[in-house]
Amino acid sequence: MRRPLIMGNWKMNGSSMANESLLTGLISQVSSLQGVDIAVCPPAVYLGQVLELVSGTSIDVGAQNLSEQKSGAFTGEISGDMLRDLGVTYTLVGHSERRSLYGETNELVAAKTLKALEVGLVPVLCVGETLEERKSSQMDAVLAGQINAVIELCGADTFGQIIVAYEPVWAIGTGETATPQQAQDAHAFIRGLIAAQSPAIAERVTILYGGSMNEKNAAELLAMADVDGGLVGGASLKADSFATICKAAAE
Ligand code: 13P
Repeated sequence: MRRPLIMGNWKMNGSSMANESLLTGLISQVSSLQGVDIAVCPPAVYLGQVLELVSGTSIDVGAQNLSEQKSGAFTGEISGDMLRDLGVTYTLVGHSERRSLYGETNELVAAKTLKALEVGLVPVLCVGETLEERKSSQMDAVLAGQINAVIELCGADTFGQIIVAYEPVWAIGTGETATPQQAQDAHAFIRGLIAAQSPAIAERVTILYGGSMNEKNAAELLAMADVDGGLVGGASLKADSFATICKAAAE
């Protein structure tokens, strides 16, 4: 009942030429797939180019970040309205790299989520624990803090419009993937946090797994009951790998 979504997060990679060749290869392999939503999140400077390249295809486009502010004197920032103006559908919020490298707190991530909702972007709320947090049994508390900050600011019912991405920090870019059972347990826990406030919404919310998902491990992760798709980093930069993951999620 939850439609799978496979989303590529290109991070700070790409060039006009590389983007074109990646998308040309991808479009030719995924255009006939049914039963899966597909999106790519290029660096902001390439959003216009990528929107043009995927226009008329079933591939959607997301931003990697947005400002929590509406407009004004915020040098270097990009507003949600600007992203909507371009035709962007999704935006990542609170990716672990933004949390750990750029100091984004749970409260700021919640404010960005609210801003995305206000302008009609679909926020992809990224959550996940570090290895130390997992080893010291703080995983549940960390995930609860990340999810509950958004529930507090935006309300539980907004999870009807929010996508969650569970990305254990220790699995991002490391080649070490969560086992399907570890992913399932975390996803079920996250769904439970939302269900505690709004059971019907919790059943509907799409929860993606991210962290070294690739063409080899995608099928077994996607087979888990509460894993509704993937947020793919490294493997989304190769058309064949990303297309294989999309196929694993398709009907
Ligand atoms: P990798 O797939 O490269 O581990 O990155 C995951 C990620 O951070 C996606 O947002």
